[in-house]
Amino acid sequence: MRVMIIGGTSGIGLALAAHYVRQGAELALCGRDPSRLDGNPIASHAGLRRYGFDIGDRQAVFDAIGDFAREGLDLLVVTAGQYADAEAIAGDRMRSLPLVRTNVSGLCHAFDAGADAMLRQGRGQMAVVASIAGLLHEYPDGSLYSASKRAAIAIADAYRKALAPHGVAVTAVVPGYVDTQKLRELNGGSAAHKPYLQTEEEAVRRTVRAIEDKVAHCIFPWQLHATVRLFNLLPKGLQRMRKK
Ligand SMILES: NC(=O)c1ccc[n+]([C@@H]2O[C@H](COP(=O)([O-])OP(=O)(O)OC[C@H]3O[C@@H](n4cnc5c(N)ncnc54)[C@H](OP(=O)(O)O)[C@@H]3O)[C@@H](O)[C@H]2O)c1
Repeated sequence: MRVMIIGGTSGIGLALAAHYVRQGAELALCGRDPSRLDGNPIASHAGLRRYGFDIGDRQAVFDAIGDFAREGLDLLVVTAGQYADAEAIAGDRMRSLPLVRTNVSGLCHAFDAGADAMLRQGRGQMAVVASIAGLLHEYPDGSLYSASKRAAIAIADAYRKALAPHGVAVTAVVPGYVDTQKLRELNGGSAAHKPYLQTEEEAVRRTVRAIEDKVAHCIFPWQLHATVRLFNLLPKGLQRMRKK
């Protein structure tokens, strides 16, 4: 099995990579700085390929995916994502565009390049790690992030419909809080207070099963999903009082 993970150099993507290594997959891991893998046991995996590019750079995405896919591409997973809250956006006008380029246009670049390879093969599978934040109608402190993840889910839906007749499956993975280094950094060093916090291993288990089952959406954990659905029913004023 040949697997490429864009955003595979840390967090959920790297944990997912460890799973596919154990499965004996031929793996390509991508991020802007692939040297982040130096010293990680995964770096010694036989045949591991690393690609360094910004997912917002369409040509670079096509070059990397095209190169790896020369010998076939069974699965493309996009976990690359960025976060900026309302305070960051208000404080720095340069914060919004990189988030949108990564979480939204970057996803389209990756799905287009992945589709290129998979349509030639007549089969394949793509997945994006979106976020349960995309399902919240009001996400006061992270509204642009929430909007970008809502877009990611909708983009996955559109590509699924377009590509299914050609043998290419598309899955949107929609997790709640996952205890990654990045989430800890965003929360002053600890994410322990986050509701229904999951380990990276739990997130990987759910993601892998969703990909294997080729489901359209995989939203987890169910407790947070149920909370979000109830929350969306509250009057707008009450929803806006919530902190991220
Ligand atoms: N952790 C959570 O609680 C949580 C919950 C729901 C959804 N998610 C989503 O899950 C995904 C992974 O989250 P994480 O916590 O594992 O974050 P992470 O550790 O920061 O991983 C992000 C990965 O994406 C890469 N990346 C970021 N921007 C990129 C760009 N412009 N071009 C190419 N690669 C880029 C990063 O490498 P470089 O920085 O070297 O480029 C890294 O490999 C994100 O999309 C996030 O929104 C996370």
